[in-house]
Amino acid sequence: MKLNPQLPIIALDFASDKEILQFMRLLPEGPHNIKIGMEVFYLGGPQLLETISSQGHAIFLDLKLHDIPNTVMRSMRILAQLGVAMVNVHAAGGRKMMEAAKEGLIQGTPAGGKEPLLIAVTQLTSTTKQQVKEEQLISVGLEASTLHYASLSHQAGLDGVVCSPHEAKAIKNITHADFLTVTPGIRPKTITSQDDQHRIADVETAILNQSDWLVVGRPITQATDPKAAYLDIVEKMAQTKKSICIGGIYGN
Ligand code: C5P
Repeated sequence: MKLNPQLPIIALDFASDKEILQFMRLLPEGPHNIKIGMEVFYLGGPQLLETISSQGHAIFLDLKLHDIPNTVMRSMRILAQLGVAMVNVHAAGGRKMMEAAKEGLIQGTPAGGKEPLLIAVTQLTSTTKQQVKEEQLISVGLEASTLHYASLSHQAGLDGVVCSPHEAKAIKNITHADFLTVTPGIRPKTITSQDDQHRIADVETAILNQSDWLVVGRPITQATDPKAAYLDIVEKMAQTKKSICIGGIYGN
């Protein structure tokens, strides 16, 4: 099942498959774009993916692989058989590792099928400038490091990167308009908590900054009315995209 670009990708960071399936009942009728992360995949694994896919939803499996090229290639061969729409690696694993990931997906995808989109994490949206400097010892800084990882991912033949909404436009400029930008760290204007995220943006800013896919977790999962929170985000995405189209045709 393909991801729907008109909708956000909902990050379902829950502790069990039971909680995930229960929460999904609070959402409007699908199909939805669902992101499954490490915690619940390690617990429920392929069985949970099967259940979600059988309900018609598209899945971004966010396992952020980062290992030697051979291990990543062999693991991607397996992930390609799970029927998910998008998977990812850490760009810090290097160009060879990313190429190996792509190769694994091609080898593992069942005949006649389309391999999942392959995305690289540049710098985590929870990472600060200070951490990049003091912990990673990267002297060029956070933004240059992110752009460099994006360029490397593009050269390795990946489909796009996970980045902060603030970096999406610059990444498109140095790669290609079709190179996908997948952005977590979305906090609608009505929400005051940024949780552990540092490089955040509201829905409108993310779209205007050329984010292709908005990944939204807690603003939906922790909302008192998840359905309303979700629909509000969908509406804001549509309105902003419409305003860009109108601006593109009639503006400037
Ligand atoms: O709850 P929140 O909206 O902050 O969730 C963001 C989701 O995106 C989480 O599941 C997190 O693991 C994921 N993510 C991220 N930053 C990245 C890559 C993935 O926040 N660079």
